[in-house]
Amino acid sequence: ANKSIFNESFFRISIINMSYPTPFVWDATFDVKHDALNTQHQGLFVAIEDCCQDAKNEEKWNTLKGLVVNHFKDEEAAMEAKGLLTPEHKKIHEDFLGVCGGATPETEGFEGLVKGWLVNHINGSDQPGYAGKL
Ligand code: FEO
Repeated sequence: ANKSIFNESFFRISIINMSYPTPFVWDATFDVKHDALNTQHQGLFVAIEDCCQDAKNEEKWNTLKGLVVNHFKDEEAAMEAKGLLTPEHKKIHEDFLGVCGGATPETEGFEGLVKGWLVNHINGSDQPGYAGKL
């Protein structure tokens, strides 16, 4: 295992519930009632699966990281505009970026961590944080 992933961010994220759907595809249980953000989430499901199926492909990994950064930026701006962005939500995004910076799709545990994180985050933070309010 690549030990560089076992940083503080990894530890905090690794204790969440890691269950995720198989096949790994977006469905209505992840609806956040916002078209652009739903579309971005759908793109994250696709890009994560792409990376897991082709773990040595650096271009796919770079594409996924770009989509994650872009999604957090847009989502935080939309939440901020409605006064819904909390320090906790920002911190959860930062922790995930910390893990992405210390891992690659070849890192042991990558698939469960990243897939588990996304579904846990949408259901546990995005939906209660802003669905129906943006
Ligand atoms: Fe959709 Fe808070 O990430």
